Amino acid sequence: MNQVYEKLRGCLASVRERTDFVPQVALVLGSGLGNYAEQIRVQEVLDYREIQGFPVSTVEGHKGRFVFGYVEQVPVVIMQGRVHYYEGYPMTDVVLPIRLMKLLGAETLFLTNAAGGVNYQFKPGDFMMITDQISDFVPSPLIGPNLEQLGPRFCDMSQIYDRDLQQIIRESAGKLGILLKEGTYIQLTGPNFESPAEVRMCRILGADAVGMSTACEAVAANHMGMKICGISCISNLGCGMSSQPLSHQEVQETSARVEPLFTALVTEAITRMGGRGGCA
Ligand code: HPA
Repeated sequence: MNQVYEKLRGCLASVRERTDFVPQVALVLGSGLGNYAEQIRVQEVLDYREIQGFPVSTVEGHKGRFVFGYVEQVPVVIMQGRVHYYEGYPMTDVVLPIRLMKLLGAETLFLTNAAGGVNYQFKPGDFMMITDQISDFVPSPLIGPNLEQLGPRFCDMSQIYDRDLQQIIRESAGKLGILLKEGTYIQLTGPNFESPAEVRMCRILGADAVGMSTACEAVAANHMGMKICGISCISNLGCGMSSQPLSHQEVQETSARVEPLFTALVTEAITRMGGRGGCA
């Protein structure tokens, strides 16, 4: 058996020893947004360290555990903390948790992150629904022998972010009076923030927000046929767009400030996804 697939099956067996919970929606929480997991009706918590071979995040502000539970009536698995490519893990490890959540039963993937605003219309604290992405600055997680059990060798990327889920998020934001921005997310490797020239490059390439995660996860999820949606919390403007230097602290502070709104938006959207059969 392929090593990557073998590891995935091992992790699946390890989780299944602990819980038979079957999630509909998999939610990944970004920097500063991790507290959302404590707001749901928790059924089971599983530390990443308890799963054999599972990559563990080293980033401050990222916990490292799966939380299984319910958002209203919708069964969800939440990743409280993700691993990033810049931590030194191979890309296949970075996306292993996404693949695992699909094998646990989740058909819908809800990605969140903190990101730098590249679009001059954005300001810190805005939410940007991701409508498309640029992932070419990091290796594709699909490089290597294709895992036929998961998806095809050459997979279509014409609509990574599901249109129906986008509409649900739009309507949820509308109901809550949140002015939702929309745009393209670009993933760079990090861990350094961008230079002003790199932020300009991102803008010229057509990106609206820049970050160090998410796009690779969406590629792996799309390969497996998951329905995907995503929201970036614009925690800061890209380097060179404001007079201040960037810090991880600023990213965390802005995310914390908008967390109540973020919580409301995610809860409303997931509830609607469950109700409309949007995640079956
Ligand atoms: N750049 C890259 N990643 C980020 C940023 C940024 O400005 N803010 C939060 N994550």
